[in-house]
Amino acid sequence: MPRQGVVMLLAVARALRPVARSVRTPVRPRSTVAEAESRFITGHPDCNVTPYIANLVGRDLHKKSAHPLGIIKDRIEAYFAGLETSYDVFDGEDPVVTTTQCFDDLNIPPEHPGRSKSDTYYLTDTELLRTHTSAHQSQHLRQGHEAFLCTGDVYRRDEIDASHFPAFHQMEGVRVFEKEEWESKGVEAVDLARDELRTPLEGLARHLFGDVEMRWVDAYFPFTEPSMELEIFFKGEWLEVLGCGVMEMQILEEAGLGDKRAWAFGLGLERLAMVLFDVPDIRLFWSDDKRFTKQFEAGMFKAGGVDMRKFKPYSKYPPCLKDVSFWLPKDAEDGSNLFSENNLCEVVRDAAGSLVEEVKLIDEFENKKKGLTSNCFRIVYRSMERSLTDDEINTIQEKVREDMVAKLGVELR
Ligand code: PHE
Repeated sequence: MPRQGVVMLLAVARALRPVARSVRTPVRPRSTVAEAESRFITGHPDCNVTPYIANLVGRDLHKKSAHPLGIIKDRIEAYFAGLETSYDVFDGEDPVVTTTQCFDDLNIPPEHPGRSKSDTYYLTDTELLRTHTSAHQSQHLRQGHEAFLCTGDVYRRDEIDASHFPAFHQMEGVRVFEKEEWESKGVEAVDLARDELRTPLEGLARHLFGDVEMRWVDAYFPFTEPSMELEIFFKGEWLEVLGCGVMEMQILEEAGLGDKRAWAFGLGLERLAMVLFDVPDIRLFWSDDKRFTKQFEAGMFKAGGVDMRKFKPYSKYPPCLKDVSFWLPKDAEDGSNLFSENNLCEVVRDAAGSLVEEVKLIDEFENKKKGLTSNCFRIVYRSMERSLTDDEINTIQEKVREDMVAKLGVELR
């Protein structure tokens, strides 16, 4: 389930010098750390949720009407409210779901990488932080909803850079068709569902981006067939807007709707908000800094961002770069390895929270004699809201190095 990176004009922001100082922390927990920990950090051997992640849950950025994510969500909901079909709207489901909801119900096979502990945050062996809003498709269908939208925060252990954050927001849409609808048109059920998804979703893209060039690209999702992605040509490049397809029959059958057909789509709110509002770094969405929050107002959206006030980067505080070189651990007998880039990112996130901007591999070589591979990663630390001190970064970096040895089994060089 890849998310494409979004190319951003970071240079503008970098050129600006800091103008103000603030000591706010970017993430304000909804509950105390202890409360969050007791629910998400279960002590189960499979639990890999960290305090930092636990404290992102429940911020409900998508429900804030003056936040860029809430503004885009409201705009999409308003579009669907204007269509002939009436869509039920959900945005408050618990992000803790079961492996059945997130994977089994959706035909996602046991060996799919999205299920692995290195990609996903588990509370126990059967409960996790949802990795996509598709986790709620089956439950809403079983409850009798035949056209609905469902928005929420989703979580993925992932790389660290300006367009990836372990929590982000998705919107799901589903629409079911009855036998009479394809029979009266004299077409196959699957063709009806596929044809019927094009018009509303192209209309949605125009509602967001204005009169743009579009193309449909074949895609693969385990829960739809055929599957496709809608791309638009925007600011000089092709941008993926959403993934969608005709829902696999198994999902409808298990929801007691075996005589019907349906389409489904899913989209990421951050991706859209970043390009439409010119937000250069995904971490900004989580910032409580007034210089960010004050720039957005409910209902300010205009299609394609034309004549709309964009985000003005206020300043970038200087980055602090630290490199770490190490020998990778050898594979265990079963071929597994404690080290992976995602696991390294989790170690860094755990020590640095939102002070880490990027983690990237800058060098790799093999020592044939030793039979070992060496990696060098560069960690870029930067706060969105203040200057960092050498002391605090050294303390964080020391913790990262210790955890790399203890948790990832690497040998520092
Ligand atoms: N759940 C998919 C993802 O996260 C998106 C999707 C939703 C695709 C619904 C098809 C249908 O990438």
